[in-house]
Amino acid sequence: MNKAWWKNSVIYQIYPRSFADSSGDGIGDINGITEHLDYIKELGADIIWLSPVYQSPNDDNGYDISDYQEIMEEFGTMEDFDRMLAAMHERGLKLVMDLVVNHTSDEHRWFMESKKSRDNDYRDYYIWKEGKDGREPNNWGACFGGSAWEYDRETDMYYLHCFSKKQPDLNWENEKVRREVFDMMTWWCDKGVDGFRMDVISMISKDSAYPDGEADNGLYGNMSPYVCNGPHVHEYLQEMNREVLSRYNLVTVGEASGVTIEEAKKYANLDDTELNMVFQFEHTDITGGKHGKWTTERMELKKLRAVLNKWQTELEGKAWNSLYWDNHDQPRAVSRFGNDAPLYRERSAKMLATCLHMMKGTPYIYQGEEIGMTNAYFKRIEDYRDIESLNAFRDYTEKGLIDEEEMIYCLQAVSRDNARTPMQWDDSRHAGFTAGTPWIRVNPNYPMINVKAALEDPDSVFYYYQKLIRMRKEYEIVVDGIFKGLLEEDENIYAYERTLDEKRMLVACNFSEHEAACSLFEQEGGEELISNYKFHKTGILQPYEARVVLY
Ligand code: GLC
Repeated sequence: MNKAWWKNSVIYQIYPRSFADSSGDGIGDINGITEHLDYIKELGADIIWLSPVYQSPNDDNGYDISDYQEIMEEFGTMEDFDRMLAAMHERGLKLVMDLVVNHTSDEHRWFMESKKSRDNDYRDYYIWKEGKDGREPNNWGACFGGSAWEYDRETDMYYLHCFSKKQPDLNWENEKVRREVFDMMTWWCDKGVDGFRMDVISMISKDSAYPDGEADNGLYGNMSPYVCNGPHVHEYLQEMNREVLSRYNLVTVGEASGVTIEEAKKYANLDDTELNMVFQFEHTDITGGKHGKWTTERMELKKLRAVLNKWQTELEGKAWNSLYWDNHDQPRAVSRFGNDAPLYRERSAKMLATCLHMMKGTPYIYQGEEIGMTNAYFKRIEDYRDIESLNAFRDYTEKGLIDEEEMIYCLQAVSRDNARTPMQWDDSRHAGFTAGTPWIRVNPNYPMINVKAALEDPDSVFYYYQKLIRMRKEYEIVVDGIFKGLLEEDENIYAYERTLDEKRMLVACNFSEHEAACSLFEQEGGEELISNYKFHKTGILQPYEARVVLY
C-alpha cells in the first residue's frame, strides 16, 4: 500500500448545489455529478472532494447537518450516492467526503434532545453555559454575525454556536460525542469512501475558561484565540487517527482556521498520527482588517509571496502542504489574484495555475476554476444567497459601519457567492446547469466562459490545467523537488525554483499587466515544460506570462 498516493494527486472540489442539476429543480444533485465524472477524468484530477451531501435544513448549504447517515433530499438518495461512488471507483477516481463535526444542525436529533432539559442524556453533547449578569456568557461574535451564544428560554441557558445559531457546536470534551463521530466515520469508510476534508477541525477544542475576546470589528469580541488550535485538539485528532483513520487507506485534510506553521507541523506531521495536510488561510486573509474580511482591497504581491514562501520552506521535511486559490468560501481566483477583464482572463488564470501547481504540496481545483470562471459581481443584495454575506450586509449597514453601496462593493470582491454560481457547462439557457430555475443566478458571462467552449479550444484554460496535472505525474521534481523562493524583492514577478538531485526547475510568473524585466531564463540548455505564451521576449516576462523551464 503506497501510503502517500495523495502526494502526486490533484483534488477537484465539487460544490454539489451548484455543479449539475439532473432533476430540473434548479439545485445541483448527485446524479448530476455522476453524469459529469468523465469530464473530471478528462481533466486528469484523481480525487474528488465533495462538499456536504448529508441531510440538512440548509441554513449554511449543507454545513449544518441534521443526519450524518442520510443524503439531503434535494441531492438524491443513498442509492444515487452508492451509484456515484461506484462510478468514481470504476474510473479510478477517489472520493473525499466533507466531515462537518465541529457542529451539527440544531435540527439534529442530538440537539433536539439536548435542548429538552438540563438533565437530558444528550445535554452534554453541546456547549451550554449560564448567562452572566443577564447577558451572554461572554462577548464572542459568531462567524456569521451576532453573538456566538443563543439563549434558550426553556432551560434558561445559552448554547455556543461559532457559526449560525442553527449550527450549535458539539462538545468534544464529551467522550460519547467523540465515539459517535468515530462510529459515523467508520460507517462511511466501510462504504468505501477514500478520505475526509474536515470542516473547521482546528476549532473542536475550546479554551475552557471562555474568556471575553478582544473587540476588534466594532461589533463583538474575537473568539479565535480561544477556539482555534485549542488545548485538546491534537489529542482528539490522534484519537481519531487511532480509532478510524489508521485503519483505512485514506487521504485527510483539515480545514484549519487560525493555523500557524508550528500548529500545522503537528496536524500534518509526517509520522501520520493526525492528518495528511491542512488548509491554511494566511494567503487568503492578507486583505481585510478592521471589518473582518469585508474589503475591496487588492492583494499585494509582496505580501502574498511572503506567505506562500513561508509555508513552502517551513513545512519542508516536516509536513505536507495543501495548495489552493479557490474553494466554495473564497471569491474566484482569477478575479482576486489575476485579472478577469477579457483581454487577460485566460492568461492570468493560466499564470495562477502555473504558480500554484508547480509548488510543493497537493493542489486543489475548485469547480469552474479550470475554465477560468470569474466573480459574479452581483449588484443587488437580493441576488445573494449566502448566510455569511447576507448577515454581514445587515449587521454592518444597520450599525452604520459600512454604507450600503460600499458593502455591495465588498460583497462583489469577497462574497462566497462569487464561487457558488452554477457551473457553466455550455451557452444554452442557465449555462446548461439546470432545465429549471437555478437557486442562485448564473454568472451572465456564461455564453463566453463555459465548458463546451473550453473543450473546443485547444488553447483553453482547461487544457492548460490538464497539462499541469500531467506534469505532476511525469516529473518527480514537481512532487518532490525542494522549493526555494527567487527574486524576492521583485514587485511584479513571483519566482521560485524546485531542485531534485541534479535537476532544477525554474518557475516565474508575472502577476502584473505590464511587461516586467526578468533574466532568469537567460542561461542555455533548459527545456520549457509549460508556458501560457507561445513566444517569449528576451529578458522580459509579458503581461501575466508564466514560464516553467527545467535545467
Ligand atoms: C467551513 C466551510 C464553510 C462553512 C463553515 C461552517 O469554513 O468551508 O462553508 O460555512 O465551515 O461549517
